[in-house]
Amino acid sequence: MQQTELAQQAVADVVQPGDIVVDATIGNGYDTLFLAQLVGPAGTVFGFDIQSAAIQETQKRISEFAGRAILFQSSHAELISHLPRGIVGNVAAVMFNLGYLPGGDKKCMTTTESTLEGLRQALELLRAGGILTVLAYPGHRGGDEEAAAVESFLDQNAPHGTLVKQTVADKPAAPRLFIYRQ
Ligand SMILES: C[S@@+](CC[C@H](N)C(=O)[O-])C[C@H]1O[C@@H](n2cnc3c(N)ncnc32)[C@H](O)[C@@H]1O
Repeated sequence: MQQTELAQQAVADVVQPGDIVVDATIGNGYDTLFLAQLVGPAGTVFGFDIQSAAIQETQKRISEFAGRAILFQSSHAELISHLPRGIVGNVAAVMFNLGYLPGGDKKCMTTTESTLEGLRQALELLRAGGILTVLAYPGHRGGDEEAAAVESFLDQNAPHGTLVKQTVADKPAAPRLFIYRQ
């Protein structure tokens, strides 16, 4: 099973219909669509991406479920400022899939600084029992530093829940998945 599927499986074990969830890097919208189906008509997905191409592609992909998703062309470093008051501590899941938009501009990729700020805010948003998934790509330019920073941040800042790290043995450049339960 691919790391993207493992992340979705972990999220599916936690999220219930009616929940509020966040896709912090919507990209081509596959995770947004997955989340919109999971939360059902009573739930809400808040999605973030800095690229207009990602917003447009995701709007097309989720058109059937458009009423369940609110998309922002903004950095996940500003998650909380865009979300309704009262949402802090009530979010069931936050998904990060780092790197660049597949098929898009490879120069427009996540950076360590904004990723760590996004993670800090994501931990604030999560409810008790909520889940955070981060898929990092050490094989991308700058991705090794970002993946190491994510690991060290989660080791230090998420001490009260459980942190699972999925790696591929003997392949240091393979994607790394972090799954944190609050
Ligand atoms: C690997 S893609 C995400 C794939 C997506 N989860 C999907 O299912 O198709 C990474 C995305 O992160 C976006 N991104 C880069 N920096 C960002 C930031 N600071 N805030 C939000 N999104 C960002 C990129 O534009 C890109 O679309």
